[in-house]
Order: sequence, then C-alpha cells, then structure tokens
Amino acid sequence: MSKPEPIKPDLAQARKRSKTASAFCAYELPAGLAGFAAGKTYLIDTYGCQANEADSEKIAGLLATCGFVPAEDAEHADLVVFNTCAIRQNAENKVFGELGRIKIYKERHPGMKIAVGGCMPQEEAVVAKILKTYDQVDVVFGTHNLHDLPAMLHRAYHDERVVEVRSVEGDIVENVPRRRQDGFRAWVSVMFGCDEFCTYCIVPYTRGKERSRRPDDIVGEVDALAREGVREVTLLGQNVNSYGLDFSDRHETFAALLERLRLLPIERIRFTTSHPKDFSDELIGVLAKGGNLMPYVHLPVQSGSDRILRAMNRKYGAAQYLALLARLRAAIPDVSVTTDLIVGFPGETEEDFQMTLDLVAKAGFEGAYTFVFSPRSGTPAAGYLDDTPRAVKDERLQRLNLAVNEGYLAGNRRFVGRIAKVLVEGRSTTGAKHLTGHTEHNKILHFDGPDGLIGTVVDVLVTDAKTWSLGGELIHLGR
Ligand code: SAH
Ligand code: SF4
Ligand code: F3S
Repeated sequence: MSKPEPIKPDLAQARKRSKTASAFCAYELPAGLAGFAAGKTYLIDTYGCQANEADSEKIAGLLATCGFVPAEDAEHADLVVFNTCAIRQNAENKVFGELGRIKIYKERHPGMKIAVGGCMPQEEAVVAKILKTYDQVDVVFGTHNLHDLPAMLHRAYHDERVVEVRSVEGDIVENVPRRRQDGFRAWVSVMFGCDEFCTYCIVPYTRGKERSRRPDDIVGEVDALAREGVREVTLLGQNVNSYGLDFSDRHETFAALLERLRLLPIERIRFTTSHPKDFSDELIGVLAKGGNLMPYVHLPVQSGSDRILRAMNRKYGAAQYLALLARLRAAIPDVSVTTDLIVGFPGETEEDFQMTLDLVAKAGFEGAYTFVFSPRSGTPAAGYLDDTPRAVKDERLQRLNLAVNEGYLAGNRRFVGRIAKVLVEGRSTTGAKHLTGHTEHNKILHFDGPDGLIGTVVDVLVTDAKTWSLGGELIHLGR
C-alpha cells in the first residue's frame, strides 16, 4: 500500500496562511493511461455543494479518457466513486452508511473498485477510519489531487490500495476534461478554497486557501459554453465576492468579471455563494444592469444575533446585513433573496434565536437552507462550550422552518398572474404536470408541454403557487 502523504489537520497553522499568488498549469493525461479501462463501467455518488457537483463532472471526464462508460446502477458498476462532503456530521454518516451497503455488491462482483474522494478524506480521522474499518475501499483521494485519479485507478486495477491526500493546494489545473450533466446548464468555478474561517466551518481546511482562476480563462470557458449551446452558467466559489483578491499582479473584482461575462452570448448567468461582508456597491451596480444576470441572490446570513455572528467570525452584524439587502432591493426591486441559517450555535440563547426570527421576519427571504450546528473536529467552534440540549435546538429548527416556509410561499405567490421565463430542465417527477424548470428568479415551475422543449427557454403564465413550487401554463414555445 502506498504511504499517504501526511495530512496536516493543524488548523491553527492553516489559519495563519498568507495570500500568495497561485500558479497555473494545463491538464495532461499521463502517458499510457488513455483507454486503459476501456468498457469498464462507473458510477459517481456525489454529496455536498455545487463545488462537488462540478468536481464530479471533472471526475466523469477523467474516467471517460480512461475508457470508462456510465453504469446502469451501483450494484453492477466496475467502479464506484464517492465524492464526499464533510460539512456536517450527518453528511459523513451517509457516506459511511453507503460504504457499508456497497460492500455487499462488491462481494458479489469482486472486480469492483471503490474510490472515496472529495472533502472527507481531507480529514485525517476519516482516512484513519477508512484504513481501519473499510477494507472494501481501494482508492482514497482528496480535493487537491482529483486530476491524479486516472493514475491512482490504474494502480488500483493492478491490485494496489492507493491512499493519496494532499494537504497543500498545488497549482490551479486548467483544462481538466469534463463530462457535463446536461447540455444546457454548466457550473463554472471562478475560484477554489476559502479564507474566511467562519468558526463552525470545515471548508477552509478541506478546500484549502482561496485561489482565483484567471479572468481570461473564465471568460474563454463561458464563451465556449455559450457557443456549444449552453443556456445557463452558474459561477462557483465559496465566497465569489472575494474573487481576485489573491492576484498580486492586478486588480480584479467579481463585479468586473461579471461585467465582462454579461456581454457574452450566454442566456443566463447565476453565481453562488456570496458572503455579505464582501458584497460591494460595485457588484450591486453591475447586477442592476439585468439582462442575462439573473435577479436572484443567495446571501447566507447564518444568524440574526450580533453576539453569535461575532462568535461565528462572520464580520458583519444584523443591521449591516439588512442595510445591504435594502441597497440591493433599491437597485433591483424585483430581486429574490435566499439564505442559509444555523441554529444551536454554541452559546445561542433563546434571546439570540429570537433575533434570528426577527431578522427572518424583516429580511423577506424567499427561501432558506436551515441547519442545526454540527461540531466539526478541529474547527474553533467545536471547542466552544455548548450547553443547549439537542431537543431545544431541534425545536428551534422547527420554529425557524415555519417562518422560512412562509417566506417561500410569499415569494412564490408574488409571481401568480405573471409571465415567467423558464429554462426547461426535464420531466417533472412530482405532481401532475409534465415538465419542470427554473424561472429567472430561481423558482421551480411545473407546466405541461412536449419533451422537445427540454433545454429551451419558454414563457409560462404562472397560475398557482405552492410553498416549494409554481404551476403554470405554457404560452410561448421555446427558442
Ligand atoms: N461558502 C458558503 C457556504 C458553504 S457551506 C457561504 O459562506 O455561504 C453551506 C452552509 O452550511 C453554510 O452557509 C452554513 O449555513 C452551513 N454550515 C457550514 N458549517 C456548518 C456546521 N458546522 N454546522 C451546521 N451548518 C453548517
Ligand atoms: Fe465556510 Fe464561511 Fe468559507 Fe462559507 S465563507 S465556506 S461558511 S468558512
Ligand atoms: Fe461539503 Fe466540501 Fe462543499 S465540505 S459543502 S462538499 S466544499
């Protein structure tokens, strides 16, 4: 077995890292690996955020260069790759549960290889647990060496157990082949990593320091996608608003990048995620130009209590956040805003929680992801005194969800009677309507129409609103 490069879970050291310029290189498949797995089948099981969705598209692209083809199901696949998430304990538990289940398939199909990658292996304890308890795993890789997967798999198919996780980011690797999930939407990473160190969050450790891609590479990619017929791109970064701060040789902002991108022949541009502290007036000014910049912003607030926000190291207060929303709405009156909220952060009192409810009442969110604080080993907050019983946290979550759901419904109701432009994504799996897609404001809309509309943008009259979705009638065929 290869010796894993030491993983440095020395988080204090990680926090001291400095902003240094990134190096760039172009991807090349190592000699001899093209087509080595011709005809073998694979399945990728993806957990976590859009960064992982985007990485899974790269994994699929790399596997295709080796000759792998998609499998029908995990049971019969020759290779199963778990692209994992470490953000909360339940995300990790799911993966360990699946690893247990897949063991049975592997016993029936001994040629099967199992690879575990993504954010979990960046934690030393996870690698130790896999090595100790999960014999069925053949390859362990991290977020910084995904492009080495072909070589690792090649070794695994020669009966080596391969464990390679890097603690240091390395170069930004451009041109990694990709197999996109569909032909009309695409993820485009503008940056990798995160330097925020919110005290509860493991991402700065699993994804490394903040590194921005060069603007010309991003513009070139979006331009090429538009020409290939992609309708919608979503720009990705843990904090897209700090894009470019790591360049030492030039001044670049996310707003300036958007200003260039909006002039390209792409129909829709979205981005996620924005950190409120870096959401500049320059950015609001560009978004207000509308056009292909969608009137939708996901702006995680986490809490409404200044005391808790300070303990979370979020670097803004509730009043500042609401003032930012007011500026955003003054510039884009129709904008939809959603957020993320955490309840039960260590030391959160009923009074703090009331402040979160209060902020939710004032903010007019049209949706929110809500979480109970999950201590992540090695992050500062995992060591904070947390004496709120789980039952109290669960009850807060329920109360918060009631408030959030009112916002979802109100946000959907305001579109009834209006004509919405929908990018048709596929057949609806819920309800009686046949097709489904997202509106410009990122609302899910179901309506009846022929399959041929999938991948096009159509006009739909919104006729009814539920909490989670809109229903409507097609009035204009797609372009
Ligand atoms: N970079 C993004 C979000 C990344 S994680 C941002 O800053 O907005 C997505 C969400 O998971 C966070 O916004 C937060 O609400 C939640 N989260 C992160 N760590 C968590 C933890 N330890 N426990 C509970 N929720 C957490
Ligand atoms: Fe985590 Fe905060 Fe970075 Fe978001 S901004 S990824 S919550 S550390
Ligand atoms: Fe999870 Fe890693 Fe994303 S921890 S939320 S998959 S950056």
